[in-house]
Amino acid sequence: METGLNTNLPISRLLKQSTPFYYYDIELLHSTLQAIKQAVSGMPYHIHYAVKANGNSHIMEEVFKAGLGADLVSGGEIKAALAAGCPAQAMTYSGVGKADWEIRLSLENEIGCFNVESIPELQVINQIALEMDKVAHVAIRVNPDIDAHTHRYITTGTADNKFGISLEDLSSVIDMAQSMPHIHLRGLHFHIGSQITDMQPYVMLCETINRLQDEYAQRGIAFELINVGGGLGVDYTDPEQHPIADFERYFNVFKHHLNLRPCQTLHFELGRSIVAQCGSLLSRVLYVKESRGKRFVILDAGMTDLIRPALYQAVHQMQNLTSAHLETATYDIVGPVCESSDTFAHNSILPLTQRGDLIAIRTAGAYGQSMSSTYNMRALPPAVFSD
Ligand code: LLP
Repeated sequence: METGLNTNLPISRLLKQSTPFYYYDIELLHSTLQAIKQAVSGMPYHIHYAVKANGNSHIMEEVFKAGLGADLVSGGEIKAALAAGCPAQAMTYSGVGKADWEIRLSLENEIGCFNVESIPELQVINQIALEMDKVAHVAIRVNPDIDAHTHRYITTGTADNKFGISLEDLSSVIDMAQSMPHIHLRGLHFHIGSQITDMQPYVMLCETINRLQDEYAQRGIAFELINVGGGLGVDYTDPEQHPIADFERYFNVFKHHLNLRPCQTLHFELGRSIVAQCGSLLSRVLYVKESRGKRFVILDAGMTDLIRPALYQAVHQMQNLTSAHLETATYDIVGPVCESSDTFAHNSILPLTQRGDLIAIRTAGAYGQSMSSTYNMRALPPAVFSD
């Protein structure tokens, strides 16, 4: 649903900026972090912020000030998270293709945990740690073969994708890790996908983990940590109604279904649910074009600023912040980039829209700015903060 009414955005302030730009509501970010802390209070839970969702330094600083750790996927992210104040021990490092320099950087800084995705990677980490006279703390990323029922590009826990070690190979990889002198095996890591709103796949994940833990306990193997990754979804269609994700419901799944062992800690890697709703992409209407009975709103923001609609057919709420019209019309909302996929919305109902109107594309705080590019030699979008 699209509307120009009832927005919680500070319109007069936004009108002063040149477009396109990202606007971040830092108060909403604080309330979101508060809601997470409240939902996990008293539990042995550690939350690592998935920096890939938004690596903006101000956002990261606020997240780390609230006491969260970081989930990282590159040397660049490790350096940025260190600079933004995240302690190295609170870092987890995932990804199927860790380069030697990135492994060295992680060992130099003594990060909390490598999430290891393959046997060759485990061997290389052990070798580099030997050369550096270090011990690498490691969790094995397990592919639990659970379908998270989300977009196929963002489901990661099924047998046919590149992530993790299969359940059949797990035993031999654990034996191998335990035999390596420069590897300290801390636990098991999982991540089944992103934008997950149905909790059933998480219940299945808990059951798989319980089964695995029982099996390994019989063999005398205990893990000090379990990491269940991230993936909690947010409401893209009605952000004003649901500005904060349902953390209570999400963490309750793990409280009720996962049998943690005494002294074991449970780790989460949340990205989207922390930052999606606090960010909007602000853009001005360049032209309204009519062609063959269709009306196009052409924005000055494009797929280079927010690629999610083009890449995942993602739906974001569009708001015309300045139209005073009560009458509405149906528009396709597009950007200026030379690609047909540079389309933000089809058949969007907006109040009558004209050149110069300010449009907010909501729920853009996660995987918006962080996935922006300079294709067509366009400038990267800047950020404006509520504080
Ligand atoms: N942990 C691992 C190992 C991951 O691969 C991801 C996301 C996360 C944690 C964080 O997931 P989150 O809580 O943000 O769902 N660009 C896509 C999303 C890609 C997610 C990739 N992995 C999008 O815009 O929808």
